[in-house]
Formats: sequence, C-alpha cells, structure tokens
Amino acid sequence: MLPRRLAAPASTWERDVDVVVLGSGAAGLSAALAARPVRSVLVVTKDVLSAGSTQWAQGGLAGVLDPTDTIENHVRDTLAAGAGLCNEEVVRELVTEAPKSIRYLMRLGAAFDPEHGGTDIALTREGGHSHNRIVHSGGDQSGAEVQRTLDESALGAGVEVLSRAFALDLVLGTAPDGERQVVGVRIGQTDEHGVVVSVGVITARAVVMASGGYGQIYASTSNPPAVTGDGVAMALRAGLPVTDVEFVQFHPTVMWRGAEATGQQALVSEAVRGEGAILYDAAGERIMAGVHPQEDLAPRDVVAAAISARMAEAAAGVDDHVYLDATHMGERFYERFPSITAACREIGLDPAVDRIPVAPAAHYVCGGIRAGLDGTTALRGLLACGEVTSTGVHGANRLASNSLTESIVAGTRAGRDLAWELPDRVPADPDIDDPMAPPLLHPSRLREVGAVMSRHVGVLRGAASLASAAGALGSIARGMAVGGEHDPPQPSRRTWEGTNLLTVATAVTAAALARTESRGCHRRVDFPLPRDVWLTHLDVALDATGTIDVAGVPDSA
Ligand code: SIN
Repeated sequence: MLPRRLAAPASTWERDVDVVVLGSGAAGLSAALAARPVRSVLVVTKDVLSAGSTQWAQGGLAGVLDPTDTIENHVRDTLAAGAGLCNEEVVRELVTEAPKSIRYLMRLGAAFDPEHGGTDIALTREGGHSHNRIVHSGGDQSGAEVQRTLDESALGAGVEVLSRAFALDLVLGTAPDGERQVVGVRIGQTDEHGVVVSVGVITARAVVMASGGYGQIYASTSNPPAVTGDGVAMALRAGLPVTDVEFVQFHPTVMWRGAEATGQQALVSEAVRGEGAILYDAAGERIMAGVHPQEDLAPRDVVAAAISARMAEAAAGVDDHVYLDATHMGERFYERFPSITAACREIGLDPAVDRIPVAPAAHYVCGGIRAGLDGTTALRGLLACGEVTSTGVHGANRLASNSLTESIVAGTRAGRDLAWELPDRVPADPDIDDPMAPPLLHPSRLREVGAVMSRHVGVLRGAASLASAAGALGSIARGMAVGGEHDPPQPSRRTWEGTNLLTVATAVTAAALARTESRGCHRRVDFPLPRDVWLTHLDVALDATGTIDVAGVPDSA
C-alpha cells in the first residue's frame, strides 16, 4: 500500500564522497563541520541551507551556566518533562555536554544576548525549567544565529553543499560479513520550483541523516514548509523501525490567525511566559491557575492540553483560540521579542497593549530513528542526529530548548567519530533504479492528510478519532496505489514530499492508536491517565507489503 521506494526517473549520474549529510540544520552542519578536517563531506539539502527548523527556533539553547544552577537540576527537569520515557544516562550525558556545546558555538562566532547593561550571557527560563538556563540571541532569533554561525563555519571549512537535491531513498549493500549496510543515497536534483532536473546516486562510506522532523503532517504547525518527515519515511522504506513517533509535541502558543490559516504559523516563544506573560480564555479567566504548580510555566504538554481542554469548553463562545497577555512588559516587548512583535503587527496587534490570540500547533517530534547520542543507528553506515532521532533525551515530551543543544552535541559527536573512523566501502545492491516503483501522492490530496491529522490526531486524541484518521489515510493510500487520478502524479519535490507525509502520518496514527494511555504529549481522551504497563517504547515499521506494523504493545495493555 505505502511505497517501499519513491518513484523517480532512472539515475544518470554518480558521485562519491567519504561522508554525505542529509539535512542542513544544526545537527547536519555540526556533523559536517566536525568530520570535515579529515574527510570529504557533502551536505545535501532539498532546498537551501537555512530552509529547515533551526532557522526558526526562537527560544534558544538550554545549558547550565548559572552558578546557582546544577547539572542535576537540568537532568531532573528533563526527566520530569519526559514523563517516564527518557533514558536517564543519555539525558545526563547531554546535560553535562550542554554548556560546552554553547561555548563551542560562541568560539565559532555565535553572539548570544548579554544581560541587560552587562557582559554576562543573559539566561532566561521556559516551561518546565526550574532555573534560568536558556541562552538566546537577537531576543527571539536564536535559531537564525545558530544557523548563520554553522553555515559560515561549515562553508569556511570546505564542506561542500548540494542544494535543491532531494534525498529519495537510502542505497544499501551487503558487507562481506553478511550485514546490511547503507552505502549511499539516491538523489532527485530539482529546480527552484521542485521540477526534476536529474536523478543520481551519491555513494559514501557513511550517511548522516539529519533531516529534521515532520510537523508538516499537520495542517497547522510552527515548522517551515520543508519539514515533511523525509528522513523518517526514508528509514521506514529502508526497513529501519522508528520509535516513539506518537509523541508529537504541540507548542501551546502558536499565533492564531483565523480558522482558515494553514501551514507554517508564527511561534510565540515560551520565553514570553518566561518573562511573566499569562494565558487567559476568551471569557478573561486564567487557564493555568490551579492546573500545575508551575502554572503558566508548566511543561509544554501540560499547557497545551489545558488550553485544548479550555477551548473545547468554548468559553465566551470561542473554541479555537485563547489569549496570551504580555502587556506587563510594555514597550520592552519590542526589543526582547522582535520577531514576535513583527508577527503581531502583521495582524494589526500591538503586544505592548493587546493580548495575543494563540492556539496549540504541532511544533516538535520526540520520536524518530533510534540512535545514540553519537548518532549510531541499528543500520551500519547510517548515523542519525537531531530531530529525526529518538535518543532517549526527550522521552514522551521534550523539555523546552533542549533540542538545539541536542543537535549540536549529537551532530558534533557523530562527525568527530566519522573523522576518526569510517566503515569499509561496500558495493551497492544492483537494483538502484526501479521502474516498477508504485505511484506517488497526488498534490491535490496533500491538504487532506494535514486536515485529517489536525482534526483526529491532535493534542487530544481518542480511539474513535484515531480510527477515523487511520481509515482516511488508508483510503488515500489505496487511491494512490490504484493510480485512479486522471493526471497521474509525476515525480517532483511536491509528490515526493506528499508521499513521505502520508507514510509518516500513517505511522504516527498507528502508534497513537496502539498506546492506550496518556503520557507526555500523547493525550488520549479515552485513557486520560498514564499506566505503568506503558513505561515502554513502540517501534513502527513498514513491512514488505507496504503496511505499517506496530511492535512493543505490552501484553497486558
Ligand atoms: C520556544 O521558543 O517556545 C520554542 C523553544 C523550543 O521549542 O525549544
């Protein structure tokens, strides 16, 4: 039903490098930069370097820099947010490395905001943090500074970049000891409109998957358009299971710009609540008072669920948004949050005097390819780092601003290891081009996938809504398989992305249906509490018939 490889014209070119990196955000560029001193490194991006999520990150990087804070505090906050599914050892490794990774970025030239009127780095707080430990840049433009720093450093170090190059599928081979190994990637080169120019194969001794998350499976998300789950879909097609994919984190405060607004929406950083902003419903009642001891600065899953529950009550007749009041900051807001100020002005609001309409929207995915904090995966030759992975750091709900930190730490470790040692070269399987690959998703059906996911697999989900989603996605996949359209979809960036979105949406829905409990950012209305039997992870795989299978459901669940 779902394709096991993406249809594309036959390949006409080949390239060979030591290391190919798929994705050009914080994780991919950190890996490329660290491997580059001794390896030829090619970064492949389907768009341009800064098209992914890193560029849009507002909050910053979490790390213990304040002398009154401790590593143990940061570990404890991360584990509490992760709701029982973090790997404590990996969390401790990350948190210990975090301050060094921030200093490393500063040595590369990243400019983080100083304390007002001073020279020390300013530290702010976000949901779930017990101390101020988030470094930021340009107020709310932290990701853009990280991206700029890494772009310049990687290019300056001689990392090569192949832009508008869509990674279609991993190329595998078999090592002399019989083990399957990733030996390269099939690439669709496109023009700026996503029209295919040529297809080729890049062979490498190691492939680093750093392609980000899959927020675009939802109709409304803080993620840019390029975040379409390509890495998770590619892993599934290569026979690699993915883990914890049901844990999609919804950011509580994404700017609400009307019921019809779809695609990427402006984020209103949690740091705004870190600076004292308060959430109200349409009737003017506080939302977080009495819900959690940290009130408006509770972990983000708690805040998103509380907002969704309040919206369902339709206080004062409004059921699709609530309000964030940051007016206590007055005009100081403009300097501290310039991007959010600009987004407010676009809809005619002044954040110094007006409450900002907000609603939860898909923001980050906690699951993905199971990988170590050094990028190692179950498939030889494949490393993975950043949002595309599930390393045990985030568990069932990521602590705010731990993700850029994780991307830098994991990417750098993966790259350094590749600088040290590479797998032996193995020949690729002979069937790289497959004229029989099944059809792709027609672009006209793309909106349907997002609508189904937002409607049925959102912040609050239940068996009935999840079954409807599974049915609707299955019917889209069946329609694709029989190729019923009058104008069968041709290979292009849009049809490849659409097929990946459908694959990943199906995987997320299957895992969400299987997990009969509420934990972290997976909230089931029919199973409102966490259940100890579910202190375990689900693996989702794509079988040989193109069907999604879920493994790991406890016997007594
Ligand atoms: C935010 O600024 O609220 C987002 C930070 C994050 O997702 O870690």
